[in-house]
Amino acid sequence: MHEPRIPTEPIIIIGAGHAGVSVAAGLRSQGWDGGVLLVDADGRLPYERPPLSKDLLKPGSAEQVTPLRRAGYYQERCIETVLGLDIRQIDVENRSVTLSDGSVRAYHRLVIATGSTARALRIPGGDLPGVQTLKTFDDAARLRTQLTPGARVVIVGAGYIGLEVAAAAAALDCDVTVLEFQDRVMSRVTSEPVSRFFEQHHENHGVRFVFGAAVTAVEGDERAERVLTADGGSYPADVVIAGIGVVPNQQLAEAAGLECNDGILVDQHGRTSHPEVYAAGDVTRFTSPFDGSSLRLECIQNAQAQADSIVHHIVEKPRKDPDIPWFWTVQHGVRLQTAGVRHPDDDAIVRGNVEDKKFSVVYLRNGKLSAVDTIDSLKDFMAAKRLIGAALDPVLVSAPGTSLAEAAI
Ligand code: APR
Repeated sequence: MHEPRIPTEPIIIIGAGHAGVSVAAGLRSQGWDGGVLLVDADGRLPYERPPLSKDLLKPGSAEQVTPLRRAGYYQERCIETVLGLDIRQIDVENRSVTLSDGSVRAYHRLVIATGSTARALRIPGGDLPGVQTLKTFDDAARLRTQLTPGARVVIVGAGYIGLEVAAAAAALDCDVTVLEFQDRVMSRVTSEPVSRFFEQHHENHGVRFVFGAAVTAVEGDERAERVLTADGGSYPADVVIAGIGVVPNQQLAEAAGLECNDGILVDQHGRTSHPEVYAAGDVTRFTSPFDGSSLRLECIQNAQAQADSIVHHIVEKPRKDPDIPWFWTVQHGVRLQTAGVRHPDDDAIVRGNVEDKKFSVVYLRNGKLSAVDTIDSLKDFMAAKRLIGAALDPVLVSAPGTSLAEAAI
């Protein structure tokens, strides 16, 4: 019988976040018998990120990482891990990588899952002690010690991270101010009705917002003491958090000559511009299989779906149909779940009752469902995941008692 050849070199995965670990796990569950090497600069057992800005900041939290897989998992499946060293260079011609200890490892296939880095505040004083971003467990643990009752917390950016930190800080009795340069919260990801709902919700919990705020400097002698804005505003601060977005960690890929454009460019199989190199997760940019738009998605669902595509391509099995992207955030106990990717010029239709904190906003592009934001409306979220791309009757969408499926034309 013909035995498939098992390559002598391993598949090397750079980055042990949701994407990288999913590739390693998927290779084994899909029967890959060759070597698998997972490398991450972080020395910890690979961990979940969503709790860092949520549960980990809660009063009385155990301040522990939530591992993606239990400690014995990797060894049991012959997944070699190198944690605490980073990869300095990729040589696509010789199919090898150089690690920070100088060692060189050859690969059969390479998977880049290096994720993204929180954008730093590049303004005078932006590097003072007391100014920080939130991306790693260490960031979260440091922040947790600073969120003491009465601490003045100034958050720059009202995106997911800024708002989750605002909620946690308010629950810990901090004095919380959010400075946002747009005119509403979460403007990158949602529509006006959802923004206004969350703004009110935060204000009810004591959070102050300043919109149209252009942050110009952080001042202080030894550490951050105040944040200045272009209109002359000065906001006293014991701790300053920058939640102003992320940048993809594509430097290694760029240096190796892979095509990048605000993300490593990948196809539907996760292949980069070099056929033996794949990439997955926050670091990638790809063409949406749903509407042809160019996307870089920062969510676990995308990391896992791309990992799955890569695994299937490597083991030469057909992959399942593309997944609908979805996202979630929890702020002061209210959960926003989004399915699909909204465009700013989509029509937005509110379903349900905003006052009851139970509603959805349905987005239609040329009459077809592009995305939905749901607040405590799991039924709409589940239905929308199935209906993305379907034509919906806008009148029925907003009619009380009509399900989303019934609104399909
Ligand atoms: N001053 C004030 N506001 C700013 C500035 C600035 N200099 N720069 C950016 N902003 C605002 C943006 O207008 C936006 O509302 O910061 C917000 C950043 O929001 P996001 O882009 O959602 O980024 P962030 O909240 O940092 O989350 C990054 O982390 O939790 C993950 O996957 C999640 O995509 C999310 C990522």
